[in-house]
Amino acid sequence: MIREIVKHPNKVLSEKTKEVTEINEEIITLLDDMYETMIEYDGVGIAAPQVNVPLRIAIAELGEEGSILEMINPTVLETEGSSVDIEGCLSFPGLFGEVERPTYVKIEAHDRNGQVYQLEATDFDARVILHEIDHLDGILFNSKITRVYTEEELEELYGEEE
Ligand code: CO
Repeated sequence: MIREIVKHPNKVLSEKTKEVTEINEEIITLLDDMYETMIEYDGVGIAAPQVNVPLRIAIAELGEEGSILEMINPTVLETEGSSVDIEGCLSFPGLFGEVERPTYVKIEAHDRNGQVYQLEATDFDARVILHEIDHLDGILFNSKITRVYTEEELEELYGEEE
């Protein structure tokens, strides 16, 4: 089911989320709904607070083929490097800007079966993962933007929106 996206400045977006203590049917439904909602609104990642659920859950679309990473109670184990690239966020329609992020991240999280996994990601994948984990700590990308893209720059990048 597609859920409504919470937009800035809703309070739920800037609060720290709670750890998931049990992966039950409600959590599985939430993961499925978050995926559907992300696809519907053309995102590459989404965090539970963005659908008004203050839990430590996020998903991210990784790689060219767009495999879906589900993160329950993720923690960042390591980061390395730094790069600046453009970011947007489903909770900030129309806002795009340059954000500095590490180029490498290693995380640990649970999957929907409760299995602990570690994952390494680089470049844009690392960026998406770190953007989503920031959401779980109530940190929003607008606080990290060093330069906002103008409408003209966005048109050049993405073409006219129909
Ligand atoms: Co976001």
